Amino acid sequence: NDLYAVIGHPISHSKSPRIHGLFASQTGEALEYTAIQAPLNGFENTVTEFFARGGKGLNVTVPFKEAAWQMAGRHSARALKAGAANTLYQDNGVLVADNTDGAGLVKDLLHNHQVALKGARVLILGAGGAVRGVLAPLLLEQPHTLVIANRTPAKAQNLAALFADVAGVTWLGSQAYDSVTGDFDVIINGTSASLQGDLPPLSVELIGADTVIYDMMYAATNTTFNQWARDNGAKRVYDGLGMLVEQAAEAFEVWRGVRPQTAPVIASLRTLTA
Ligand code: ATR
Repeated sequence: NDLYAVIGHPISHSKSPRIHGLFASQTGEALEYTAIQAPLNGFENTVTEFFARGGKGLNVTVPFKEAAWQMAGRHSARALKAGAANTLYQDNGVLVADNTDGAGLVKDLLHNHQVALKGARVLILGAGGAVRGVLAPLLLEQPHTLVIANRTPAKAQNLAALFADVAGVTWLGSQAYDSVTGDFDVIINGTSASLQGDLPPLSVELIGADTVIYDMMYAATNTTFNQWARDNGAKRVYDGLGMLVEQAAEAFEVWRGVRPQTAPVIASLRTLTA
């Protein structure tokens, strides 16, 4: 069987082995997918060893996505601007970095939740690696507006400047949380604030009954952000479980050339986390 793995630190909580295991049995692909915890100072060595013993592909998660990008000899177009990689494989001895997170987010919004992005006014919260990783695919969907807001406004400004040349968007800019106003169709939380039970201090005025709320994180119960949105009247509230499965499907397709079905896998994981 061809060998694949997810690599991170910590890694024991990762759902990727289960997701890829379900993809493999569904598509009949003969592969084995495990989880590897790399030492914090030993990511490159662990990757090199994995491919040296015949490994075919890696998914990369926290905190190694930037290191994976740095280490690669080639980058897919969508990984290039992301500055971070969640998918690695070898091509003629060259380590190739891809980033399927943005495609996963877009697919989850478009296909699983029927959220239109073309012409939409989108607000995205956060300006760390998670947001940077999804900006190019989001912009390529041609939203009307994409506003980036962040606790540290300079980081949001930097990202807006960095992605200003990506085709599609009519207006790309940044704002501080407390000055964000206007009508947004979609609000995406790409901060890790939920992990500490924190909320970006946004005005509740931003939430209308039709506003789509999306937290890139997921949890068995509502994330802090999603709970806040529901408490303030949001009806269309989604977490990032679908994005997780969709980014995995995208990586599976990059490696195997076969597109797995995601809906049954999302349903299976939802049952497990419920
Ligand atoms: P990731 O790869 O998950 O994006 P990161 O690069 O450390 O990780 O970025 C974390 C993001 O969550 C940042 O946008 C961060 O805001 P700052 O840039 O101002 O640090 C945001 N964040 C983390 N904890 C937060 C909190 N308690 N409140 C608001 N924003 C928070």
